[in-house]
Parts: sequence; C-alpha cells; structure tokens
Amino acid sequence: MSVKDCKIIELPKITDPRGNLSFIEGGEHIPFDIKRVYYLYDVPGGSDRGSHAHKNLHQFIVAMSGSFDVVLDDGKEKKRFHLNRSYYGLYVCPMMWRDLDNFSSGAVCMVLASTRYDESDYIRDYDQFITVAQEKSNYI
Ligand code: TYD
Repeated sequence: MSVKDCKIIELPKITDPRGNLSFIEGGEHIPFDIKRVYYLYDVPGGSDRGSHAHKNLHQFIVAMSGSFDVVLDDGKEKKRFHLNRSYYGLYVCPMMWRDLDNFSSGAVCMVLASTRYDESDYIRDYDQFITVAQEKSNYI
C-alpha cells in the first residue's frame, strides 16, 4: 500500500436552487462497503486528530462543513490533502499513518469506514508502524 493508492474522489452532485445534494454508495463511488460512519465536530482551533494507522481498515473522509488537512504517510512518502468541499472526499487505504490538522472553525469531518470499530486494528506507535510497513513491503 502506498500513498499513491489514496486519492480524492469527486462525488455525484445534484445541483438544485433549493440546495445541492450529494450521495455515496458503498462499492460504487468508494472502493469498499460501508460498515460504520463517525464524525468529528466541535474541534477546538489548533487541535490535531489521528496520529495512528489502521492495519486493514479502508476509510473515506469528507469535510461536511468547513475545512481541514489530512496528512498521509506510507512510511516512505508523505502527502498533504486539503479538504474543503462536501462533494468530494479522500479515500484512505490500509496502512497509512494519518494526521488531521488545520481545522477551520465549525469544521465537521465525516469518516466512512469499512469495518466496525476495532481497537486491535489500530497502530498508535509511529516506530511500530514503520516496522510493520517495512515487513509488509518485504513480504510483497
Ligand atoms: P480515534 O480513532 O483515536 O480518534 P481520531 O483518530 O479521530 O483522533 O478515537 C478516539 C476515541 O474514540 C478512542 O477512545 C476510540 C473511540 N472510538 C470509538 O469508540 N468508536 C469509533 O468508531 C471511533 C472512530 C473511535
């Protein structure tokens, strides 16, 4: 898995003078079935979230309101993505260390996830992440 496998995906947008509408179908607009939705809100200015990786989880991150940055790191390469529209989102494949920062006031970060919450899927130590990422790339 490389940071190059992660990408911004533009969602369908039904524009309407009464208000626009976007939608996401698991396996159709994003490359996994959706098992869980969670969201970050009331994020104080200057706060950082994330700082972990997932072994198997696929995620899709959308700025439903406001803006923030997601920095992805595959152990070799890092890339910063700025999210600020509700009609596109960032697909994050497994084994990506992620940091979320630069939250605007009122930002809402919605995350669609491929599995239910499972703490054993997390890697919360960066050195351990690098070790596991290297093991996986040697195995491939
Ligand atoms: P965490 O994933 O570390 O937050 P973030 O990556 O946004 O900084 O989760 C923070 C806490 O919330 C942690 O104690 C686990 C809990 N949590 C759940 O119980 N269910 C969930 O679906 C998520 C994402 C977190």
